[in-house]
Amino acid sequence: MLVLGIETSCDETGVALCDSRSGLLANLLHSQAELHAVYGGVVPELASRDHIRKITPLVREALDQAGVQLSDLDGVAYAAGPGLMGALLVGAAFGRSLAWSLGKPAIGVHHMEAHLLAPLMEAEQPPLPFVALLVSGGHTQLVKVAGIGAYEMLGESLDDAVGEAFDKVGKMLGLGYPGGPAVATCAEGGDAERFRFPRPMTDRPGLDFSFSGLKTFALNTVNAHQPLTSQDRADIARAFEEAAVDTLLIKCRRALAACGCEHLVMAGGVSANRRLRQRLEAQLDARVHYAELALCTDNGAMIAYAGCERLSVGERTPLSIITRPRWPMTELSPPALCSGAQ
Ligand code: KG4
Ligand code: ZN
Repeated sequence: MLVLGIETSCDETGVALCDSRSGLLANLLHSQAELHAVYGGVVPELASRDHIRKITPLVREALDQAGVQLSDLDGVAYAAGPGLMGALLVGAAFGRSLAWSLGKPAIGVHHMEAHLLAPLMEAEQPPLPFVALLVSGGHTQLVKVAGIGAYEMLGESLDDAVGEAFDKVGKMLGLGYPGGPAVATCAEGGDAERFRFPRPMTDRPGLDFSFSGLKTFALNTVNAHQPLTSQDRADIARAFEEAAVDTLLIKCRRALAACGCEHLVMAGGVSANRRLRQRLEAQLDARVHYAELALCTDNGAMIAYAGCERLSVGERTPLSIITRPRWPMTELSPPALCSGAQ
């Protein structure tokens, strides 16, 4: 089954072609980082307009690269939520309409489910059930996964997502947008012993997270050391990264023990963080699975793959163009046959 995947939930236009037998045939991404950098964060209206500009050329290029035609597609998958309403609408309207014009089925994919499934594109698959750590710019969640669509929320952030905290710390250190990768790079030259940042909510039982206090701690440290030298920046970035990674590590260990699982799948933009990968692999009594770097942050391939998993067993999204800016993952069900929908 050949599926076109479209990702437009935030500030990246992703288009990919995934074949259920031969794998990924094309995976193209246009990042809007430069467009939003001057504003220090994503401007939703600019994001939507840029998706409109890029989506058609990217789809054409993906088809060319894969050497296939629109008529070869067996289905179209698009991110239907969660995300920015206007941005989602671009991909959903384009994807749903394209599928209708071709007489092929379409599916609206849950963006976080797509992140979660991305590591399953790797050769080694984790056995079910496993624990998933989802760490992106909008979500920090621990989920017990019994199968596709069978998700039990074990814990999540009560305030900022960990990626959001990385971005905000990057901004306060003057490292630009998006902050996550910049903080990670800056932290490499930092002294881990100079500052000790808190590990929020690790001193009590439970699997929820809170990162806003950690962000405020970073801000207070920044304010207390003005003007910042480049070494101050590196030391603060390092202290923040260590605290964030430690917090995630402690909660993953607890979640694995609570579920009796020996496999952890880590996904979402922050799973690209090298220190997080190293620490989880070295310090968890579990096998850690993650996607290749390009498939950790937003991309069309994960949408195509997740869509393919659901389309291939007969699930379809009806003809109306539906997007859900807020969409709890626990509302998903295992792939199901839908009658009457094209
Ligand atoms: O999954 P993603 O691309 O988009 C959302 O669904 O939100 O995640 C983006 C987040 C941003 O907050 C970004 O700063 C963070 O992932 N990120 C990182 C790294 N690469 C991306 N955070 C820490 N270290 C990284 N290497
Ligand atoms: Zn994402």
